[in-house]
Amino acid sequence: MKNMKLGLAATALLLSALQAQPVQATAARGRVIVQDNCSRCHAIGRTGKSPLAKAPPLRIIAKKYPLENLEEAFAEGIVVSHNAPEMPPFEMEPGAIADLLDYLKTLRPKKR
Ligand code: HEC
Repeated sequence: MKNMKLGLAATALLLSALQAQPVQATAARGRVIVQDNCSRCHAIGRTGKSPLAKAPPLRIIAKKYPLENLEEAFAEGIVVSHNAPEMPPFEMEPGAIADLLDYLKTLRPKKR
């Protein structure tokens, strides 16, 4: 019984953390994608510096480009928007692109 209570408390904590921004399941998957594929160069969170100084933080990219443009760039292979020799060619499934864009949306400053 005690364990269950602890579990519930942990779940409640997790949920309240998630509610800090409207995160859909797809955005959560998108976060995993950028964590795996982008985070060694780009900062992927709401704050922080990119590990590779030349790579703009994803939150800046999210603000700078309309998401439709990014969707196209990603569909054609992210490499088109990279002149960086460090950048590996990168192609994404349409589903993964949608998830990634949903994650990028969560990085934008909230409109009120
Ligand atoms: C090996 C390092 C590296 C990885 C991994 C990487 N990037 Fe980049 N990226 C860069 C660098 C460096 C630049 C800046 C140079 C440039 O604009 O070509 C850049 C630029 C970009 C730009 C263009 C920004 C602009 O202002 O024009 C986008 C969009 C982008 N990255 C998205 C991504 C995404 C999404 C991922 C993961 C799926 C990713 N990158 C993974 C290094 C990387």
